[in-house]
Amino acid sequence: MNMKNELLKSAIEFAKEAGQLIRKNIHQTNNIKQKLNHADLVTEVDQLSEALLRERIKTMYPDHWILSEEANGQANPFEIIKQKKIGIGWVIDPIDGTTNFIHRIPHFAVSIGIVKDGELIAGVVYNPINNDLYYAAKGKGAFYNETPIQVSNETEIEEAVLATGYPSKEWKENSTVVKQIDALTGKCRSIRLLGASSLDLCYVAKGLLSGFWHDELNPWDTAAGLLILREAGGKVTTRCGQQFHLEDRTLVASNGFIHDSFLKLLK
Ligand code: IPD
Ligand code: CA
Ligand code: CA
Ligand code: CA
Repeated sequence: MNMKNELLKSAIEFAKEAGQLIRKNIHQTNNIKQKLNHADLVTEVDQLSEALLRERIKTMYPDHWILSEEANGQANPFEIIKQKKIGIGWVIDPIDGTTNFIHRIPHFAVSIGIVKDGELIAGVVYNPINNDLYYAAKGKGAFYNETPIQVSNETEIEEAVLATGYPSKEWKENSTVVKQIDALTGKCRSIRLLGASSLDLCYVAKGLLSGFWHDELNPWDTAAGLLILREAGGKVTTRCGQQFHLEDRTLVASNGFIHDSFLKLLK
């Protein structure tokens, strides 16, 4: 087994193990702490999932670096990612969609991206409630469970179902996302706010959504989904149309065909 495949296999195993722990603790949502505000929360289960993942990685790959939301949330994750251009690292969201988790909306995931010398080489997104597993290794295509996946083929923005989300800092009136939703309203077919960015990217990869945009995501929200979407034939840029990197603050993802019209409407 080559290194990329071995790491992907480990990431799938760790994500499933963390998923099992989350499932077991699905009713343990009483220990909730606020981070930035009343819309930015963390539970004990986020921390348990993160501790399990960090422990598994440290034991099996002691030389690898790890960037994960709850342990590294205080530091500037964009600076950390910029500095980590050498070696192999794991970029982890122990529960992406914490608000959904707290409200028992069965739409959240464990997200694990693996970076080698500054390049994404593997990604896994796992929803432990319905057992949806998305994964990809660089150059090997993207998969949903055992099945290869591809982006949708809509070419017109009128046919596009898009998704977005609120950056934690922007949970207020007249925020950029509210203006963007307004600009797209009536132009695309519909807009969804599903609450777990890693899964949004996988939904574009699987052709369920035609596009997704979001400002101010952190590297742990995007790492795994980004590779999965690119391997499924999708396009991911900044709002200026440049290729998206983990340290970028604006993200526009699509099936590729609608990308230009999508970007125009977001400007
Ligand atoms: C959140 C989700 C959500 C996005 C938020 C993120 P978390 O991550 O990805 O979709 O809109 O901005 O913070 O906090 O649930 O891991
Ligand atoms: Ca969070
Ligand atoms: Ca997240
Ligand atoms: Ca999280």
